[in-house]
Amino acid sequence: MKLNNFDSILCSSPEETAAAAALFATHLRSNDLIALTGDLGAGKTTFVKALAKALGSLDLVQSPTYVYLQMYEASLPLFHFDLYRMNTADDFLAMGFEEYFSAGGITLIEWPQIISHLLPAHTIHLNIQTLSEQERSLNFTKRASS
Ligand SMILES: Nc1ncnc2c1ncn2[C@@H]1O[C@H](COP(=O)(O)OP(=O)(O)O)[C@@H](O)[C@H]1O
Ligand SMILES: [Mg+2]
Repeated sequence: MKLNNFDSILCSSPEETAAAAALFATHLRSNDLIALTGDLGAGKTTFVKALAKALGSLDLVQSPTYVYLQMYEASLPLFHFDLYRMNTADDFLAMGFEEYFSAGGITLIEWPQIISHLLPAHTIHLNIQTLSEQERSLNFTKRASS
């Protein structure tokens, strides 16, 4: 997708973050990849959950830290990674996970830092910043921010 319509969005509740995710979802195409950064509790999974729902998924979206990859059925297959507990990029490669980037679905990666050098150039980086208990700033860029 192009990022013209998205840059930085202030969301004042989980519902607003979900609404932003649903809108964002309408712009996604096959093989798009979104790398989600932000502290624990920032709202990465909340965003993925709403995105999956907007794309018609009825599957349960969560991110148990002991599972690296969960797949959901939606208008396009969704590949939801959570790499919080992954130690090296070699682990990612050894599990053949890179193949999902071009498998015709949409890939969402929480805690992508460890594999940042493996991410394709068209990756959309979403950093969610916690401003207060309910306020989040969603920052979309084509390049990774710190
Ligand atoms: N504006 C907001 N956007 C997203 N989540 C919010 C917001 N305000 C409060 N929250 C809460 O913050 C938590 C985010 O959790 P989660 O999505 O699991 O974060 P992460 O996956 O980044 O660790 C949820 O409990 C959610 O209800
Ligand atoms: Mg999460």
